[in-house]
Amino acid sequence: MSPNQELAQARSELILASSSYSRVECDFGAAKGKFLSESAALNPTVFFAGIEGLSDRVRRSNRKIDRLGLGNAAVWRGWGKESLEALIPEGFLDVLHVSFPDPWPKRRHWFRRLVNSEFLEIAATRLKAGGVLRLMTDHPGYFEAMKEHLALQGGWVEVSWEDDLERPITEFETIFRAKGDPIGRIAVKRVEELRS
Ligand SMILES: C[S@@+](CC[C@H](N)C(=O)[O-])C[C@H]1O[C@@H](n2cnc3c(N)ncnc32)[C@H](O)[C@@H]1O
Repeated sequence: MSPNQELAQARSELILASSSYSRVECDFGAAKGKFLSESAALNPTVFFAGIEGLSDRVRRSNRKIDRLGLGNAAVWRGWGKESLEALIPEGFLDVLHVSFPDPWPKRRHWFRRLVNSEFLEIAATRLKAGGVLRLMTDHPGYFEAMKEHLALQGGWVEVSWEDDLERPITEFETIFRAKGDPIGRIAVKRVEELRS
């Protein structure tokens, strides 16, 4: 069974696990679960769902979550935009985090980048009305491309990066900040239904 077929089954687990929380956030590319587990510890009234492509990282994340006794977080294995579609029901998320997706700097590899118009279309359907997408990257060219895709799709409005939750630093943010690399970040709110 492919990881994304398993995710279709995991959807019911997610719905059950998050059913007593009025707010749900997803961290796409959750790595070893630092941001996810710290977010869950800091914000116990919110459920945090992670998606990560590498199974050893998924296991490590879930072990960390169990060790910390966090009932409001879990990570599932999934790959690419299809996994967001498979795991997350429509209109489910308050916030979707995509932090430091692989930049694929060479032009001939840009088609592999996660954040593009197809990904944004799926993201828009998975967010609640008024839900927020938070994007971060250390790659200036990718950051410009993300903003272009958002503008082209329309129906997004930029909102303040600061919000009403405590936001820990991500694993890769720690590394890039230590190197003094510039970090592009943008939070956008979904204000329109997708045009057909
Ligand atoms: C550069 S790391 C960033 C990790 C984390 N978001 C952070 O800020 O520290 C990217 C993570 O996304 C995962 N990843 C990359 N491409 C993916 C894809 N298409 N689907 C799912 N996970 C992916 C990688 O395995 C890795 O753990």
